[in-house]
Amino acid sequence: MNNVDVAAIVRDGYDQIAEQYMAVISRPRSADPRDVWTGHLLQRLAPGSTVLDLGCGPGVPTAAAFVGAGHRVVGVDISPGQIGLARRNVPAGSFHVGDVMEFAGEEGSFDAVMALYSLTHVPRDRYTTLFARLVEWLRPGGWLLASMGASDEPGWNEEDFLGFGHDNWTNGYDAPTNRRLLDEAGFDLEMAEIVADDTPFGPERWFWVLGHRR
Ligand SMILES: C[S@@+](CC[C@H](N)C(=O)[O-])C[C@H]1O[C@@H](n2cnc3c(N)ncnc32)[C@H](O)[C@@H]1O
Repeated sequence: MNNVDVAAIVRDGYDQIAEQYMAVISRPRSADPRDVWTGHLLQRLAPGSTVLDLGCGPGVPTAAAFVGAGHRVVGVDISPGQIGLARRNVPAGSFHVGDVMEFAGEEGSFDAVMALYSLTHVPRDRYTTLFARLVEWLRPGGWLLASMGASDEPGWNEEDFLGFGHDNWTNGYDAPTNRRLLDEAGFDLEMAEIVADDTPFGPERWFWVLGHRR
């Protein structure tokens, strides 16, 4: 990873596939783990909560669902193309172009943080720093919902990412390591499960976690 500009690969990779990615993920499908797990979080949020969506992509379906449920959503994404779509799709949201590692959240200002299918693109040696910041940005008891990698994968350049013909960059830890890092950062996990998913991009496994700031 040392000689690779991960942020640039991920940014350009998601810019190049912005419209195609949106077309696929905004199509409803049965038994979508995204719906199940965002449902768990929605059940726990007080009306009018403020939710940070890290790596928000095009804002559909997730940010749109939270805004539709009456919450305030702040989205961050490294890809200007994805943020352009999110602003168009969810005019009531507040969206920022940037690397999650550069985001300057205000202490205790969020009721929940989500990172759905995005942490696998953040270099895993930054997780300790990032998770500590998430704890800081959340109010005490604030919620974390994330889908994380489920296996130990050092960073690699993924050619033809999702079958759209462009490169991207992926990495992750196994579930026990992710669990340990979240615990050490100060999260108590209420639910945590490796979920096998027959996605439109092929079979995938994600480690889903729902927890709160200790
Ligand atoms: C697989 S998409 C998921 C989008 C959305 N969360 C969803 O559930 O559909 C991953 C998103 O994370 C963004 N992303 C990846 N690394 C990032 C980083 N370091 N900072 C901000 N956004 C990032 C990508 O640009 C992309 O839009």
